[in-house]
Amino acid sequence: MRKKVIAGNWKMNKLPNEAMEFISELAPLVKDTENEVVICVPYTDLFYALMHAQDTKIKIGAQNMNAEEKGAYTGEISGEMLKAIGVEYVIIGHSERRAYYNETDESVNKKLKKALLLELKPIVCVGESLEQRENGTAKEVVTAQTRLALEEVSNEEVIKTIIAYEPIWAIGTGKTATKEDANETIKWIREEIENIYGKDIADSVVIQYGGSVKSSNAKELFEMSDIDGGLVGGASLDAQEFAKIVNYK
Ligand code: PGA
Repeated sequence: MRKKVIAGNWKMNKLPNEAMEFISELAPLVKDTENEVVICVPYTDLFYALMHAQDTKIKIGAQNMNAEEKGAYTGEISGEMLKAIGVEYVIIGHSERRAYYNETDESVNKKLKKALLLELKPIVCVGESLEQRENGTAKEVVTAQTRLALEEVSNEEVIKTIIAYEPIWAIGTGKTATKEDANETIKWIREEIENIYGKDIADSVVIQYGGSVKSSNAKELFEMSDIDGGLVGGASLDAQEFAKIVNYK
């Protein structure tokens, strides 16, 4: 049985005091959930969030990392740095990073391997554009992104990797993929993992849906056979709303 992982992606939002207030509000609301609850916060909030989330169900993640250990990379943060302060999760290859910061399948693969080596829990994002959905190449695009992200990732490591299927056209737009389309696309991703690693492993990999998830659509999405929770942007900024998504049942 795969666990549902509900992860918030705050993007470039919230100051440390706001992060701590959010955690104080969210913690009692999610204390009885069986789902994994994660919030991926800006770098500057990480330490405050980690301290504040101690002894709660809330796990803390970063939104990116550099694949190098250290060196002359002005403005960058390494996986080692995240690990050293106790960060547990890291988002890799979000479509905004692919679009605005030149992340490629190759850099995603490099970061993923490094995160796994450091025992950070990676959430790797894949997803097609509207044009690709409309011209019928979505399957090709998401399976290729999945395959390239997982190059040289071992059987033991892939089980620890979370994939987030996020159609680019559904991110921050209020447009959600239908539950059937989201489930079908996640099945394509799972089949691709099966082609590489076999069925048992494919069946155990957590694959989330992301793109305008909110409390009003979480239940129908998360109850689909292959959707193992969600990566939630806008709706994760409000503790009450995010708690409803975590407690979707
Ligand atoms: P959204 O963002 O929920 O605001 O659409 C999702 C994401 O970018 O991870």
